[in-house]
Amino acid sequence: MTNSKWTPQSWRNFEARQLPAYPDSAALAETEQLLGTYPPLVFAGEARQLRADLADVAHGKGFLLQGGDCAESFAEFHPNNIRDTFRVLLQMAVVLTFGSKMPVVKVGRMAGQFAKPRSADMEEQDGASLPSYRGDIVNDIGFEAAGRQPNPERMLRAYMQAAATLNLLRALATGGYANLYQVHQWNLDFVGASPTGEKYREVAGRIGEALDFMAACGVDPDSVPQLHGTDFYTSHEALLLGYEQAMTRQDSLTGRWYDTSAHMLWIGDRTRFTGSAHVEFLRGVGNPIAMKAGPSLEPDELIRLIDTLNPDNDPGRLTIISRFGHDKVEAGLPKLVRRVAAEGRHVVWSCDPMHGNTIKSASGFKTRPFERILSEVSSFFAVHRAEGTHAGGIHCEMTGQNVTECTGGAAAVTDETLADRYHTHCDPRLNASQSIELAFLLAEKLRDEMAKQDQAAAA
Ligand code: TRP
Ligand code: MN
Repeated sequence: MTNSKWTPQSWRNFEARQLPAYPDSAALAETEQLLGTYPPLVFAGEARQLRADLADVAHGKGFLLQGGDCAESFAEFHPNNIRDTFRVLLQMAVVLTFGSKMPVVKVGRMAGQFAKPRSADMEEQDGASLPSYRGDIVNDIGFEAAGRQPNPERMLRAYMQAAATLNLLRALATGGYANLYQVHQWNLDFVGASPTGEKYREVAGRIGEALDFMAACGVDPDSVPQLHGTDFYTSHEALLLGYEQAMTRQDSLTGRWYDTSAHMLWIGDRTRFTGSAHVEFLRGVGNPIAMKAGPSLEPDELIRLIDTLNPDNDPGRLTIISRFGHDKVEAGLPKLVRRVAAEGRHVVWSCDPMHGNTIKSASGFKTRPFERILSEVSSFFAVHRAEGTHAGGIHCEMTGQNVTECTGGAAAVTDETLADRYHTHCDPRLNASQSIELAFLLAEKLRDEMAKQDQAAAA
């Protein structure tokens, strides 16, 4: 597989799972061709910058913060939703940077996270059987025959929404909103009143003092542009390969191919098997890429995938996102980490504490207990500590909205209150205050990791 020639369409000769069956293949081809004439959403140079930032993380000198919706939707496309998710990510980044004293690489699961893998092709309801919902880029969530037919036109709408979302994100990141002097303003009303909000205010106060001191010394956003804004990148699962292929363009500077639909793309746990079309597609693009790794992944298979996806062993090229479940990570992750380290492969290790911890609540909602999420994160850090490797990142499904989708947290969501504001189009997300609470735990763990390194260096 590694030796055959890669082209943007070579994936079509491999086994493609999780792709929709479009009823009209001529319409599909026509739409993909049209999409291929649309402007790129990101530039190759930006993707290379992210790769360089992630190379630092691979070397233990930074932390990857990746988060956003499980699935973006057409219905919830609103500037307030984008801004609120962005500002919670900023708050998390501030807590992490301040707590760990490490640069934090900020990547949204935003501006293109539309396609969803499903466990069954069909969904049954009251004796009727319709194609499963595969994300707004494919079909409609309502259980209704016409809307459930995969429709290529939806790719164009998804592209437009991604473009507008990215435009707002760029403005928020560089236009003044993300200015560090705004650190107090990012605290949302409903978070501000909670214990987490209080903790955040304290960190913001200390940062504010440091900034005032530095300003008196002549260091301010006018003299140091880094204070004025931040680099914010986008990512999504590269699932709908026809769309991704259409967005893949050759960089005029280097001649390399880049998937310009996002800065970073990942392969899901269900599509990373040997012989997979998704693996074939991603191996050829120059973007930083990631791969989800769950309990079924064996070390030999992982090394083969690394050989294919990162043959030059470039640090920053490949992130492995483990998603085991709170009770499986200590048993399953060490053998992968150990093998990768023993073979000298450079990867970023990131933790997805969401997908292995999904349960059905007594009230019938798909939920994730916050304690299990924190527990998987703690175990992830414990494994890396034991193996002497860097716990390099977090991948979470979260929103800036005050939803009740995951149980637990300081402003406790219970089984009974899940129904209050359960809005997700797919998996349950952390709300703003749960996200910030998670960031405080991460900051503490990172501080421990640094302290251990300092001790080792002093000894
Ligand atoms: N540019 C720096 C960084 O991104 C500092 C910074 C500016 C920042 N605005 C921020 C950090 C918002 C976190 C959140 O790290
Ligand atoms: Mn999900």
